[in-house]
Formats: sequence, C-alpha cells, structure tokens
Amino acid sequence: MWHDRAVTHTDVGRSVQSAVYRAGVYGRRPVVPVAPGALEAAARRRMTARGWGYIGGGAGAERTMAANVAAFARHPIMPRQMVDVAERSLATTLLGRELPAPLLLAPIGALELAVRGGPAHAEPPVARAARDLGVPVVISSQASTPMEATAAALGDSPRWFQLYWSKDDDVAASFVERAEAAGAEAIVVTLDTHVLGWRPRDLDLGYLPFVRGEGIAQYTSDPAFRRLVASRPAPAGGGERPTPSAVRALLTMRRHGATRADVETFLDVFSRSSLTWADLAWLRERTHLPILVKGVQHPDDARRALDAGADGVVVSNHGGRQVDNAVASLDTLPAVAAAVRAARPDAPVLFDSGVRTGADVFVALALGADAVLLGRPWVYGLALAGQDGVRAVVQHVLAELDLTMALAGVRSVGEIGPEQLAPAAAN
Ligand SMILES: Cc1cc2nc3c(=O)[nH]c(=O)nc-3n(C[C@H](O)[C@H](O)[C@H](O)COP(=O)(O)O)c2cc1C
Repeated sequence: MWHDRAVTHTDVGRSVQSAVYRAGVYGRRPVVPVAPGALEAAARRRMTARGWGYIGGGAGAERTMAANVAAFARHPIMPRQMVDVAERSLATTLLGRELPAPLLLAPIGALELAVRGGPAHAEPPVARAARDLGVPVVISSQASTPMEATAAALGDSPRWFQLYWSKDDDVAASFVERAEAAGAEAIVVTLDTHVLGWRPRDLDLGYLPFVRGEGIAQYTSDPAFRRLVASRPAPAGGGERPTPSAVRALLTMRRHGATRADVETFLDVFSRSSLTWADLAWLRERTHLPILVKGVQHPDDARRALDAGADGVVVSNHGGRQVDNAVASLDTLPAVAAAVRAARPDAPVLFDSGVRTGADVFVALALGADAVLLGRPWVYGLALAGQDGVRAVVQHVLAELDLTMALAGVRSVGEIGPEQLAPAAAN
C-alpha cells in the first residue's frame, strides 16, 4: 500500500528516522528541516515578500492563526506502556478508498507564489510527490495549473476537488463536471471564503495574486468561464497612455495566460455570499461524487450540512486566514465530530488548521477526526525543494505519527481515541 520505496508503511517512523541518521554519518542532512519552526523559517527566507505575506499570513492580528497551533498543547497525549506495538499500520479507509495514512494535502491556491519559475514548478511537483506516497491531493479552485494537468501528473493516485462556488452557475457546474472527468473522488465545497478575510500583510503590500492573473488557471481554462468573458463588453478607456505600472500588471497577467477581461470577469464571479444550505441541493443533483463541506466550526452547521445532502465535513477555519479571533479549529473538533457521529456515524470528519507535526495528527484523530488535511507545511517543503521537499515534509509528519502511535501504545489509527489523551483534556 505504501507507494514510496524508501518507506514501508508498517514501520515508517523507524525507517525514515534511521535513513536520516545513517545519511548523517556521511554528512548529509534532511532535504528540508524537520523541526516545524526551522522549516517555516527556511521557507520564509526562500520566498518573495509577497509570496511569504500571502502564504504565511493570516487575517487581522493573526490571533486565530496562532491559536490554531497553540490549541494542540491543551490536549496532551497520555502514553501507555507494555502494549505489543511491533506491528503497526497508518492505513485507513476514507469514502471507501484505502489510503496509506489518514492525511491528505489541503487545497492551496496561488501555489506558484511559493516557487520560482512559474506554475510548472507549482502543482505538477506536488502531484508527483503525492503520487510517490499515495497520499490524496485536494486540487484547489484557485490553482495555478488547470486541474487536467494536475490530474495527468497524479496518474492513478487519488485526488479530490475543492470548489469555490462561483456566482455563475455554469462556471460552478463546469468545474464539477471537469473534476469528475479528471478523476476526482470527492468534491470539497469551501464555505468559509465567499469573501476574502481582512489580511493585513497582503493589504500592506497592496497585493492579491488573483488581480494579477495568478491562481486563476481553473477559470481561464474553463469553457463556461470563457463564454462569460466573451459576453462581456470590451473594457472602456483606450485613449490614455497606460502608466508603467499598468503595463507591468498587464504583462504579469499575460505571463499567466490571462487578459484584463479574464481578471475582471474572475473578480465579478468569484464566490457567492448569498449561499444558504438550501443551495447544496443544486450541487447534490449535479454530481454523483461525495460532497464534503469545508470550513465547519459549529456543530449545528455540521448537522445542517448533512441534512442538506453533504456526505462529510472538514473542520477548518482556513488556517486563521478568514475570521481573526475566531475559535481555534481544534477546539471545535470534539463537538463537531460528536454531532456528525450522532447524525450519521459513517460520515467522515476531516480536520485542518494548525497541523504541524505527527503528534498533532495523533491529537486530531484522538479528538474525533478521521483524517487531517496538511496545509502550510507541505507548501514550505515545495518552496525549499520542490517535489522532494513536499515528499520529505509528508514523510516527516507520518514518521512522527507512527512513532507517536508506537510510544503511546496503539497499533492502528482506528485505535486512536480520547482515551489516548490526558483525562482532563479528553472532553
Ligand atoms: C496560501 C494558502 C492558500 C489557500 N488556498 C485555499 C484554497 O484555494 N481553497 C481552500 O479551500 N483552502 C485554501 N487554503 C486553506 C487550506 O486548505 C487549509 O484550510 C489551511 O491551510 C489550514 O491551515 P494551516 O495551513 O495553518 O494548517 C489556503 C491556505 C493557504 C495558507
């Protein structure tokens, strides 16, 4: 099941660990830093100020971004001894598909900001890394590469598609149709970003990728979107000489295969603030794929999502990028998981926002998640070492998860529950 030849899924922790230590004898260090803080710092040094602001930043005073990470410390693990854990497995089943580990790559838009050299160095190496490991990718609506190209790089490795629900029904329907054709096994509708949060780092730089044609490849490659662009009146103006900065902006757009009309049309149709639960029926009718809703924090929203036709939920606050001072995502997980279990025991609960280590994955599973979405850390790996960097980051997280399981006294991810946490923290 484990696709990477260097790692067997029965003992991923020790094999990654001993590969690192053995290479160290010959003076070789891990391809990307293992320590989460060092990984982030190294990626920050590699990225442009705009790239770092967009990827590393959050909403407002970034309290929620910090709280997401800090929350894990409030749920300590209670290790148990003298359990036979010689044979362990990270394998799990999600939506009927066997996976090597309870981990997927979170949808991350405008990924080209993390790399030098444009979109060819963004999604394709991520897809190849995911394929090496058999870990599913959630393809973003705001990707820098059309989903068909990412799908081709994924081969037969699993992929889901994340939908930002366009104001234009035809664009939304077309995205879903293309995702099905590209082999997506689920649609993840992101609910928490129908408008962008207030992001001071980006505001201070006057920078948003989409306005420059970055991260809108799903749109510019879409037939329904192209029809919309064609139906727009030509932009007014023309008589005046464009300023040098306007020319630079146009050249940036052109480099991304986008025109001013594409960007304006995108800004017009991106995401719908009028959506309500009743609208989910429209999507339910248009796809046979499982639908998960991402951005759930309140247990009532989880119940309503299931009532409205969703098949699962992703507990997430978008990595603290939307509502500052919102509750840490981990602190909402137990109540949401309980609500989902009570309503539909087989509906998957995924979790993201703040996962940085294998121990974090363990805690999220103990608090009721079936799997986690890893977010920023794999982007940092990409920034530092492309495909190898993404692969290394995921391996480090999974190696630590495996060793945490061994040392906590559990053999399989299915055994991880609240009883593995210190009693006061379990509820
Ligand atoms: C740079 C960046 C871009 C993102 N783009 C998307 C996106 O296109 N669609 C989406 O649903 N979530 C997006 N997210 C949110 C992630 O899917 C995920 O919820 C978040 O990264 C989790 O927080 P963490 O990275 O701090 O763990 C993005 C996050 C970041 C950091």
